[in-house]
Amino acid sequence: MGRAFAYVILGGGVAAGYAALEFVRLRSDAAAGELCIISDENVAPYERPALSKGYLLPEGGARLPAFHTCVGANDQLLTADWYREHGIELILGTKVITADVRRKTLLTSSGETISYTTLIVATGARALKLEDFGGSGSDAENVCYLRNIKDADKLVSVMRSCPGGDAVVIGGGYIGMECAAALVANKIKVTIVFPGKHCMERLFTPKIAEFYENYYASKGITFIKRTAVSSLEISSGKVTTAILRDGRRLQADMVVVGIGARANTALFEGQLAMEKGGIKVNGQMRTSDASVYAVGDVAAFPVKLAGGDVRRLEHVDCARRTARHAVAAALGGDGDIDYLPFFYSRVFALSWRFYGDNAGEAVHFGDPDLAASPTPKFGAFWVNAGRVAGAFLEGGSAEEYAAIADAVRRGAAVKDVAELARQGLAFVAPR
Ligand code: FDA
Ligand code: NAD
Repeated sequence: MGRAFAYVILGGGVAAGYAALEFVRLRSDAAAGELCIISDENVAPYERPALSKGYLLPEGGARLPAFHTCVGANDQLLTADWYREHGIELILGTKVITADVRRKTLLTSSGETISYTTLIVATGARALKLEDFGGSGSDAENVCYLRNIKDADKLVSVMRSCPGGDAVVIGGGYIGMECAAALVANKIKVTIVFPGKHCMERLFTPKIAEFYENYYASKGITFIKRTAVSSLEISSGKVTTAILRDGRRLQADMVVVGIGARANTALFEGQLAMEKGGIKVNGQMRTSDASVYAVGDVAAFPVKLAGGDVRRLEHVDCARRTARHAVAAALGGDGDIDYLPFFYSRVFALSWRFYGDNAGEAVHFGDPDLAASPTPKFGAFWVNAGRVAGAFLEGGSAEEYAAIADAVRRGAAVKDVAELARQGLAFVAPR
């Protein structure tokens, strides 16, 4: 049993949706059945960031179809009907279990062999489990991860089963911070536990982190840092207590785990070149096999702005742009991607954006003083070899975000970091 397609997108997440949109834009003359998307999820691609934000609201939460891709990039949401209308085969609820790059075939969990001429790998990443670090307890009824809609539904139902209860959040990264804010909005008391010195350690400086930790504390959230949960006590299938390395015991009506992600590369190990934990691609998002492209979380690609250094970025803007670039390249485009890394988050009444690379010396500006303002405006520039390499801003306007992005993009020259700290946003503001 088998089918053949000219183009196959493997994975049905953010990158898949944007790749499909680009395909339709560039190939309005495509024949029905030229492109197919294979996804082990049961729904058409959606904007994953909604899962830790709008989806978790206590009332009127976002639900599909409202956040299918490509909100904001197309006047029409890419629902299952959209794919049908554009002749794109959406093969849902189907896991690809093996890939043969030499034969150009994929074997699915239903036993079907699907062959392709061109393959776009968009398998994203998976949430790391407690078991990946030698722990246990992931199967408990009230332990939640957050990677897909199924996880989000479990999180919502567990949250609603213990109003006023206690949650232990394991991990102080994106998932931990965004879920903690959502739990508080749902009237759940939160303790965040992680081994690092401060939250969001991969991006935030200690000074930036201090602001968010104080803000969270003002919402009743407790941080327990520089330690880890060593085990979970389980009774009748549910966690009751989280036990820390130092023996402390935290009562838990629920646990949320956000301890990092790994790219889903397994299907291609030994067949495609790998780097930085992902599938290595060139500036056209083409892998070491000329018929295979990789995009989104799973792709490690050269970032021109970082001197061509190969990076793997687990952020939605990257998924959108690399997907579109790969499709354009697969359809004959020849330019190399010139990507400006962009990350963001929104929690409570706060909202920040980061552009570029957090390399070099961090030069802070603005006053992150909660007493002076509940929604302060502050940030940092990272200065590397006399130029702005990265910029972070909390509470900016659209114009201010555009201005810091522009400063990073052109590598604005910095003669004197003390002067930059004094000027702050005025350094980049349009005069
Ligand atoms: P994505 O994970 O979206 O999709 C991969 C798809 O492939 C999934 O459908 C998966 O099931 C499927 N798949 C994998 N293996 C398969 C197989 N063998 N067979 C079939 N299907 C397979 N970023 C940001 O910049 N700002 C934000 O606010 C957020 N917020 C956020 C919240 C939450 C809860 C998460 C989990 C992530 C974010 N992100 C984010 C990160 C962002 O969502 C992420 O970078 C993109 O979803 C990556 O898109 P991809 O398409 O590469 O992977
Ligand atoms: P992360 O890498 O951002 O954070 C992992 C956290 O877990 C860190 O605080 C780390 O110190 C901690 N940690 C690591 N090992 C641990 C252990 N054994 N015990 C306790 N803590 C441990 O990863 P995440 O928060 O899980 O996010 C997963 C993915 O989702 C990432 O790809 C992220 O980019 C993406 N995401 C992005 C956004 C956003 O961009 N706004 C939002 C949500 C999720």
